[in-house]
Amino acid sequence: MSSSKTCFQQLEDLVRAKYPIVYVLTFEEERVQTALQQIARNLSRQFRTWSYPKGFSPDQYAVPDISAGRRLPPELEALAHIHAYHEPAVYHLKDFHVYMNDARVIRLLREMAAKLKDDSQTIVITSPVLRLPTELEKCVTVMDFPLPGDAEIAAVVDAAIAGSKTHKDLVCDYSQSEREQLIGSCMGLTLDEIESVLALSLVQKKRLDVDVILTQKQQIIRKSGLLEYYPSTVSFQNVGGMEYLKEWLKTRTDSFSDRARHFGLPVPKGVLILGVQGCGKSLVAKAIASHWNLPMLRLDVGRIFGSLVGQSEENIRMAIKVAESVAPCILWADEFEKGFAGSQGSGVSDSGTTMRVFATFLTWMQEKTSPVFIIATSNDVSALPPELLRKGRFDEIFFVDLPDSGERAEIFAIHLRIRGRDPSQFDLKRLAEATPQFSGAEIEQIVVGGLYRAFEAQREISMDDMLAEAKAVVPLSKMMSEEIEQVRNWAKNRTRPASRNDDRS
Ligand SMILES: Nc1ncnc2c1ncn2[C@@H]1O[C@H](COP(=O)(O)OP(=O)(O)O)[C@@H](O)[C@H]1O
Ligand SMILES: [Mg+2]
Repeated sequence: MSSSKTCFQQLEDLVRAKYPIVYVLTFEEERVQTALQQIARNLSRQFRTWSYPKGFSPDQYAVPDISAGRRLPPELEALAHIHAYHEPAVYHLKDFHVYMNDARVIRLLREMAAKLKDDSQTIVITSPVLRLPTELEKCVTVMDFPLPGDAEIAAVVDAAIAGSKTHKDLVCDYSQSEREQLIGSCMGLTLDEIESVLALSLVQKKRLDVDVILTQKQQIIRKSGLLEYYPSTVSFQNVGGMEYLKEWLKTRTDSFSDRARHFGLPVPKGVLILGVQGCGKSLVAKAIASHWNLPMLRLDVGRIFGSLVGQSEENIRMAIKVAESVAPCILWADEFEKGFAGSQGSGVSDSGTTMRVFATFLTWMQEKTSPVFIIATSNDVSALPPELLRKGRFDEIFFVDLPDSGERAEIFAIHLRIRGRDPSQFDLKRLAEATPQFSGAEIEQIVVGGLYRAFEAQREISMDDMLAEAKAVVPLSKMMSEEIEQVRNWAKNRTRPASRNDDRS
C-alpha cells in the first residue's frame, strides 16, 4: 500500500500539473483538507473549501455576483463562482458527488475543464464513495487517499504518550516494542478513530493498551458490514484428512515474514478450495488462520455483490482497503459462488454490476503486493466465473473430495475426542466401513446422534449407538452421486487433490 506521504506527493503533483478536476476517495476529508491547504501554500495558490449548506469558506472570499438577481441551486452557484474567478486556486468541494448525476453539473464541469487549466485552478472533490458519470470519466482524475500509514500513526501515538506525562495517574513509560505494537494495532483506522481509541484507552486503563485498541478496531470493522474479524480456535489437529492441502499450507507458515522476503520468496496470493459440501473446506480455512497466527477477516460475499447494487463497487474497494490496512492477514471469502448468483441470469439479473465488482476484485488479486492471503471456498464450481480459475489468480486450486475410509476413521476419532471420549476405545475401522460416501459433517452428526441415544438410555456411548445412527442416515452424496461425479471429472485436470484419497468407498 502506498503510504500517505506519497499520496500527499501524488496530490501535489496533480495540482502542480494543472489537472482540472481530481476526485479523491476518502473517509477523511479533514485530512485531505489539511493536505490541500499545505499544497496550495506550497504552490502559492488560493485555497477555498465548499460544502453544503455552508458554501465557500473562508467566507471573506469576495464572490463575484454572477447570479444577476436569479437564485441558482447552491451546487451550480458554486461552479458559477469558480467559473468567474481567475486567480490560481485550489477548490475543495466536499461531498460534491451527490450532485454529479445532474446533467447541468456534468455539463458545467466538462465545459470548465479547459478554463481551470488556463487559470491554474484545480477542483478537488472528496467523497467516501465513487460516483462518476461516464461523461466525466475523461476530465476527472480519481485517486485513493489511503488510511494513515506508520509515520502518521506514530506521530499521534507519540503525542498521546507525551500528553500522558503531564498527568501523574497515567502510565507514560513504554518500551520500544510496546510502542511499535501500539502503532501496528492502529493500522486500518482513520486519524479521528485513532485519536478516539487512544483517548478511550487512557480513560479506561490509564495507559495506551493494545487490547482496547484491537477491541475498538473490531467494532469499527464490523460496522462496515462487509468484513468481520473471525477469531479462530480450530487447529489442524481438528481437521481429518487433506494431508496434501495441510502440507501445502504448513510449508507456507511464516511466508509473510521479513525473513521469507529476504530469502527471496514471493508473498503468497491465496488458495481456492473447491469441493463436496460438508467435507471440511470452511473448517480448514479456519485452521489456517490459527496455524499461521494471522488475523482472519471474513468477507460477506453476498453483501458485497448483493442487493446494494449501486454501491457494490464501492463496497469491494472499501473491503480491499480495510483488508490491506490490517495486513498481514487472511481474507476469507466463504461460499464464494454466492456472490455470482446475479450473473447466472436468474430473474433480477444484474450481471453488469456483478461483473464489474468481480473485475475489480480480480484485478486486485492479480496486482496485489500487500500481504493479504485470500482463501476462497466454494461448493459449486459451475457457479464460478471461469476467469477466476485461470492461472495466476490463486497460487493453487485444491479439490476436497469425500473422505476415504482412512480419513473417515480419523474424522470419527477427532469428533469423539472433541466430545471428551477416548477414540482408542472404539473400532474406528468398523465405523469407517459402515459409513461409505459419508462427508465429514455427516460423520460428526453420527457421533452426536450416538451420544443422544446413549444419553437417553442413561449409559455411555457404544459402537452400536453409532452404527445404528449410520444405518439411519442416507448420505447426501448418494442422492447427488451424479453431480458429485461431474464435479470430480471437472476437477481432475484443473485442480490439485487435497488428499491422496486412494480408496473412496
Ligand atoms: N475433514 C474433516 N475433519 C473433521 N471434521 C470435519 C471434516 N469435514 C467436515 N467436518 C465437520 O463438519 C463441519 C462442517 O464442515 P464444513 O467445513 O462447513 O464443510 P464445507 O465448508 O466443506 O461445506 C465442520 O465444522 C466439522 O465439524
Ligand atoms: Mg463451507
